[in-house]
Amino acid sequence: MSTSVQIAQAVALLKSGNVVAIPTETVYGLGADASNPDAVRKIFALKGRPADHPLIVHLHDAGQLTRWTADVTKQVIKLSAKFWPGPLTVILRRAKDVPLEVTGGLDTVGLRIPSHPVARELLYEFDGGIAAPSANRFGRVSPTTAQHVHEEFGAELPMILDGGPCSVGVESTIVDLSSDAPAILRPGGITRDQLESALGVAVPFRAPGNVRAPGTLEAHYAPRAQVLLCAPEDVSNRLASLQQRKLAVALISWQKPALLNASVSYIPLPADVEGQARELYAALRRADELRCDAALVTLPDAAGLGAAVIDRLTRAAASSRS
Ligand code: TXA
Ligand code: MG
Repeated sequence: MSTSVQIAQAVALLKSGNVVAIPTETVYGLGADASNPDAVRKIFALKGRPADHPLIVHLHDAGQLTRWTADVTKQVIKLSAKFWPGPLTVILRRAKDVPLEVTGGLDTVGLRIPSHPVARELLYEFDGGIAAPSANRFGRVSPTTAQHVHEEFGAELPMILDGGPCSVGVESTIVDLSSDAPAILRPGGITRDQLESALGVAVPFRAPGNVRAPGTLEAHYAPRAQVLLCAPEDVSNRLASLQQRKLAVALISWQKPALLNASVSYIPLPADVEGQARELYAALRRADELRCDAALVTLPDAAGLGAAVIDRLTRAAASSRS
């Protein structure tokens, strides 16, 4: 089936209140018509996500912003010009008629214009807002291929729109623009440096004051294997002590040790941090496929996309402990 036929089918399903899995450049999402509260509720049921956790509304272009926010600020205009379409979500005060199902009852709404060509064509044809969280069960690893979504939801979804592997691989950066001082709620595909140079002010990281941002919960993004983090230079020592405990271990790293015990499965990551972000979630899923008890992952430098990779790995490791 051609992509345009599939997009027409996805639009028809969305218009009639169904949930469709959609590709974006960051991760795959579970999409529903953001103006249809019943359709949005289906997302929560599928994901097993608490109803007070807000969703991001995906749009085709900045001309649609006024339908969703009463407040198209100077800052969002600046960020829009630089980073949209792309992996950036902004939090703004919501327009009055945005369904509370979408915002989790909050006074603000998350908005993003994705760059994935299939998502763009879908949004253009749909001509409205598509609410979409990442297409994984609550608390689990986000999907970066259509196959990952299929493994997670299979027949529960009427359609998974296949757009190939995601090019960014970690979720969008979330910037809160709803109060005077902008702040990053979740590091992601657009870096802090990029935001600061676009806005000309400091944009600090800020932990949200409530638990309504699941992607910012301490424990999230977790595979079944226990996630253990280490510096590249500590790999040999850590592997030795894990082997003493007779655990089936996956080593997820861009460096393959010269000597590797046969009981360790090596799952390679690219040498560059963009590649590490792109392939991280698939690597965590691979550790589960191999039925590993533990996944030892080497941490990148915090510069650029490294901040997002470290953020997700830290939460995945926290889930393993809880
Ligand atoms: O890259 C992405 O952002 C992906 C793709 C599908 O677009 N979506 C995604 O959605 O990661 P989700 O639901 O898994 O994570 C969205 C995060 C959540 O932590 C949510 O709480 C937060 O955005 N969020 C949404 N609306 C918000 C709001 N009004 N205030 C604060 N946080 C909000
Ligand atoms: Mg998520």
